[in-house]
Amino acid sequence: MRVSVPVLLLGSSRVLGLELQQQPLRGAQVPSSIISPASDSNAPTYRGDLVSLHKSLVEISSISGNESDVGNFLVNYLEARDFVVQLEFLPPTNPSNPGKPRFNVLAWPGPNRHPSPKVLVSSHIDTVPPFIPYSRSDENPTADTVIAGRGSVDAKGSVAAQITALLSLLESGRIAGQEDSVMLLFVVGEETSGDGMRFFSETRGQLDPPPDFKAAIFGEPTEGRLVCGHKGIFTCNITVTGHAGHSGYPWLGKSATEVLARGLVRVLDTDLGSSEEFGNTTVNVGMFEGGVAANVIPEKATARLAVRVAVGPEIGGEKIVAQRLQDVMRSVDEDAFEFDCNNGYGVVKCDCDVKGKSWQLSTAIAWVDELLM
Ligand SMILES: *[C@@H]1O[C@H](CO)[C@@H](O)[C@H](O)[C@H]1NC(C)=O
Ligand SMILES: *[C@@H]1O[C@H](CO)[C@@H](O)[C@H](O)[C@H]1NC(C)=O
Ligand SMILES: *[C@@H]1O[C@H](CO)[C@@H](O)[C@H](O)[C@H]1NC(C)=O
Repeated sequence: MRVSVPVLLLGSSRVLGLELQQQPLRGAQVPSSIISPASDSNAPTYRGDLVSLHKSLVEISSISGNESDVGNFLVNYLEARDFVVQLEFLPPTNPSNPGKPRFNVLAWPGPNRHPSPKVLVSSHIDTVPPFIPYSRSDENPTADTVIAGRGSVDAKGSVAAQITALLSLLESGRIAGQEDSVMLLFVVGEETSGDGMRFFSETRGQLDPPPDFKAAIFGEPTEGRLVCGHKGIFTCNITVTGHAGHSGYPWLGKSATEVLARGLVRVLDTDLGSSEEFGNTTVNVGMFEGGVAANVIPEKATARLAVRVAVGPEIGGEKIVAQRLQDVMRSVDEDAFEFDCNNGYGVVKCDCDVKGKSWQLSTAIAWVDELLM
């Protein structure tokens, strides 16, 4: 996620150096009115709609690449509530086998077909695999109720909350006369290449007139906290070339897996860049492969890494870290490594100077309100 407007990121759990596991809602800082028993007169009027929209979204499988059913659901849901909905079709990744069409859902309160949006409210509708069905620990909500299912947090929780928040903002009449200054954007492909958001950034939805956003609110799980930045990322494919040989004569060969293992351990033990705000750069050795048989010295070994970058600048911080990583590995062996690292980005700082930094729904509404005044 990279944007050049002020951003309120309700986002990733990897924030400001806190690498926390996602927690169920239980125990998170949630206003008691949301989790209070159904009979409680403090329950917000939107609760039933929010929970039911969330359930419908989670029940539809939408693993990255296969998002069209959940997209169509949103189209119907929003059109039934008088939104103008525009589908933004992505070009097929494989033109010879296009599969189901993939589209971002862009929507704003109708009936104006030429809106002038100032605030973009966005999240994503794809999930990582596998599909895990919706479940709920009990019918009557209490503080211990647990709602589960793939995407229930990341990010269908955000999608449902954003739509419900906008509907209640509209209902309140607080943005009467400028309803279409808020635009919803739900993108595909966030969990893989980010192709949905990339496509929107390039096309700006082909809106007429082109949108001039003053701010964007991104929905991602952050345990109910306002997030003022996130780490950068890049990926690397590393190939090691050694010499094959019989395991009985180790001096005749050069083990590619051994060189790779030693290089990776050194990388894992090195501080590749850290900062107070963003913590440590971390390296995930996501794949490690090599060799052909137990008693053959491996000639080839490969690893695929995802590196979460904790230093800036946003453009270039990743290159600084990638260079360090390569230097550290080459200190194990000067010639055996080949690196193929992509262009990621360094840390992204967001302008999040808004009142109230705890509970997102009310903060977000208040912020939208303020921006529109
Ligand atoms: C694609 O999504 C639909 C539901 O939206 C699901 O029935 C189908 O199994 C999914 N296909 C794959 C390959 O995940
Ligand atoms: C960062 O790494 C150092 C060791 O290099 C460790 O002591 C520290 O706890 C780490 N910080 C976080 C936030 O994980
Ligand atoms: C690494 O290899 C994978 C699979 O072959 C490929 O998709 C990717 O583009 C390669 N490059 C980088 C920098 O990750």
